[in-house]
Amino acid sequence: MYMMFFGSSVLILMGMAIAWSILPFKGGRWLIMANVLLLFAWFAVAVIAGLSIGWEFIRQIFGMLMPMVVSPFLLLAILRKRKLWNRLVKRYAVFVAWFAVFMIAFQIPAFPDGWTYFECFGLPILIFSLLYVWDRRLGGRFRMRWIVSCSVLLIVGFIFGSLVWNATAMQADGHEASMDWGGGKMTRGRQSVDVTTLTGPDAAAVTKRYHFTAAKKKMEVPDGTKKELWLFNGKLTGPAIRVTQGDVVEVTLSNKNIADGVTIHWHGYDVPIAEDGVPDISQKAVAVGESYTYRFKADTAGTFWYHSHNQSSEQVGHGLFGSLVVEPKTLVKEELEIVGFVAPKYIDASGALLSSNGEVPKKIKPGTNVRIRLGNAHNKPQKLMLNGAVFQVAAIDGNLIHKPTDLKNTYLQIPAGGRMDITFTMPNHAVRLFDANDENGGWVFQSTATTTKASTEIPDEVFKPEEYGEQQASQLDLSAGFDREFEMVFDSKLAFFDGMVHHLWTINGELYPNTPMLMVSEGDLVKTTFINRSYSHHPMHLHGHKMLVLTRNGVETTGSPWWTDTLNVKPGETYEVAFKADNPGIWMDHCHNLDHATNGMMMHLQYDNVYTPFSGHTHE
Ligand code: C2O
Ligand code: CU
Repeated sequence: MYMMFFGSSVLILMGMAIAWSILPFKGGRWLIMANVLLLFAWFAVAVIAGLSIGWEFIRQIFGMLMPMVVSPFLLLAILRKRKLWNRLVKRYAVFVAWFAVFMIAFQIPAFPDGWTYFECFGLPILIFSLLYVWDRRLGGRFRMRWIVSCSVLLIVGFIFGSLVWNATAMQADGHEASMDWGGGKMTRGRQSVDVTTLTGPDAAAVTKRYHFTAAKKKMEVPDGTKKELWLFNGKLTGPAIRVTQGDVVEVTLSNKNIADGVTIHWHGYDVPIAEDGVPDISQKAVAVGESYTYRFKADTAGTFWYHSHNQSSEQVGHGLFGSLVVEPKTLVKEELEIVGFVAPKYIDASGALLSSNGEVPKKIKPGTNVRIRLGNAHNKPQKLMLNGAVFQVAAIDGNLIHKPTDLKNTYLQIPAGGRMDITFTMPNHAVRLFDANDENGGWVFQSTATTTKASTEIPDEVFKPEEYGEQQASQLDLSAGFDREFEMVFDSKLAFFDGMVHHLWTINGELYPNTPMLMVSEGDLVKTTFINRSYSHHPMHLHGHKMLVLTRNGVETTGSPWWTDTLNVKPGETYEVAFKADNPGIWMDHCHNLDHATNGMMMHLQYDNVYTPFSGHTHE
């Protein structure tokens, strides 16, 4: 719906600009009619969009540009009788109509700043005054084509200027520290706690020990070609970490030859901040020849993963990631477990599945209970299906679903960075698990009894976590209301750098490091609203905390409590999530399309009493 509103707005505004430019003004009947029709059409589209997806999505585009494109009509209505004014209005109208097209295509952020207001309201007034002066002084001597060429030059200048300006905003150094207190108390006193003191257990408590070395290696990738990968212990995916609830895990990371340094972040695992692996926030990146030790207690069971968090887009893309599975202490585990990750796009762009715990079985005995722990290391959400068996989604992002129900002919959409556990009982025929981008690939499990053909059909039904499983009281008590409420609106901008036009991704109109810092106190109950006005998916990942999804597009979730650490927000979607601020630190909150993170879409959740001895401005 949002895309429809946006697309039709662009077309309608262009239509108006063309009408002003080519239709005769004298007598003006056709011109007025064309414009009035277009204006009504736009108004209708805005009303429909506003009703179905909310004012939030249309407020800037409509609210800022409507007065601009209506202003020539107002002038006409007021000044109808006077020739001089008619000439002026025509020139002015041509300019604002095209300027509105420029604004919608390049410029309007979710939270317009002073400059945007000036562009939408001040600039038209200024232009009109200039035209007036021009006409009075030089009337008759200059021709229409001057007005047109000046307008064109001005708009082209604006386009180029804003592309370059956006790029410089990206390179801003030092945090502009726009602290957002979410409507709660501004509690910042002395920052007394150093993040590096908030560590995991001592070495004496360790029960599982690992040594990882990050190094480059030439290797064959799924499509058969050879590529230079960057790997932990030379493995794709990295060495599987598999421990039992209660274990104390120690991982010593050494960097052999990854020039810009590496770290390890335990994605989805709520470790103490000093173990979180974010360069320049919780540690310095581990340089070539150096090492660093992480330690944490594995007290939550589930499927997680780890990856380098230094220049993540490049490093995860080249293979610096692996699975982290914590087995429950009490529950009986499935007879057969398989762990698989969708490959990052640099390794395989087509959604190949990488096994993360050795060989994938080709044959399975009918009646066997199987659990597949799936993760997505790609930058885009992945459409995965299990054809040939009735299955259940047992867990999302490591969190068990309460009373999952049977699914079939349903595909899963796993967010970038997200995980889902599926369980099924092996039937007496073939089962195929595959990614929609890789229709003939994926994994085929044959029954040991017969060999049959596995279906490659792609079902239409999508798995809906918001209504899956049975309702249950969650661990969060929301009855007393929230201490803080944040709103994050996602947009995109274009910028010119490195000789190319790039997409930049903004939060509340800003690019990292100027994005808002969400300020909380320990113990706060926090609500966050995500609003995606851009044209891309944004899988939002909060470090150190789990988020409980409350609503999707304004509708309350009805199934099992839906806990997540990576929530995919599609274009035009709104989500409300809640979390408890119970893990002091400075935590990244970013889009897990890692290219988006690199191009601006990151921010921090900061507890009011902590500080980092590092720069506090991650180069990620
Ligand atoms: Cu999986 Cu901050 O990342
Ligand atoms: Cu994104």
